[in-house]
Amino acid sequence: MSEPVLSLRNLGVTLQGRDGSITEVTHDVSLDLAPREFVSIVGPSGSGKTTLLRAASGLRPPSRGEVRFEGAPLRGVVPGISIVFQEYNKSLFPWLTVQRNVMMGARRLPAAQREQEVRDALRRVGLEGFASRYPWELSGGMQQRAALARALVSDPRVLMMDEPFASVDALTRGHLEDVVSDLWERSSFAALLVTHDVAEAVYLADRVLVLSARPSRVLAEIQVNLPRPRSHGHTRLLPEFAELEAQVLQRVEEAGREMVGSRD
Ligand SMILES: Nc1ncnc2c1ncn2[C@@H]1O[C@H](COP(=O)(O)OP(=O)(O)OP(=O)(O)O)[C@@H](O)[C@H]1O
Ligand SMILES: [Mg+2]
Repeated sequence: MSEPVLSLRNLGVTLQGRDGSITEVTHDVSLDLAPREFVSIVGPSGSGKTTLLRAASGLRPPSRGEVRFEGAPLRGVVPGISIVFQEYNKSLFPWLTVQRNVMMGARRLPAAQREQEVRDALRRVGLEGFASRYPWELSGGMQQRAALARALVSDPRVLMMDEPFASVDALTRGHLEDVVSDLWERSSFAALLVTHDVAEAVYLADRVLVLSARPSRVLAEIQVNLPRPRSHGHTRLLPEFAELEAQVLQRVEEAGREMVGSRD
């Protein structure tokens, strides 16, 4: 395997609640993300997936272990890592047009290049005619595409996505999965996707990590060797797809049972 672009080494995150209580959210998670690799992370609700992404992206320091980005320790937010959050209505600025929102992601680029890059990013997500609209004038799926354009305009090495399609309807979700798949095929970023949806995890990824219940550790790692390029009409009908989906689902259910058990 080539030198990983991102390495999580025995990452642990312990959070302190406002009442002073201490919760170990992430116990021990390790992952090497290769350049251009697509990894999905699934796990029971509350298993600390968002917390893990925050630590992996430099948004918060881990309590234990280390994150390495391009071979050096990650000490905070860096331009090479972009994140798309679940709630597009909270991640776009409502008082800025789509173009100005995407421009926010381009502010580290040379000024002369920015407008062109923003135009390109909007074209890549299929929003070329909507640059002057405000986010609230767009559908949920279009807002999420604008958030994707903002994340990709800086040409990141790693794109992290936290439940990016959870707030849109099933049809839009399928379409957005294909938008991401297509962008990934045609670009050079590695992707880390957190999702509840096992089929989505398998459909998009080269590898799926299943997290245990909190405090989370890696319960299983499943390689997805489905042919690319993938499409809903083809990939999801393959018998191998159904097998992989069942395999991941079984591990997620195990993690869920573990969680119920821990509450008894
Ligand atoms: N700032 C915080 N202080 C204390 N506890 C927190 C804090 N943020 C999250 N938690 C707790 O950490 C646990 C994991 O939260 P997290 O949001 O990372 O899980 P998740 O796997 O992303 O959940 P979901 O699938 O519902 O999105 C939860 O039990 C949550 O209550
Ligand atoms: Mg979450």
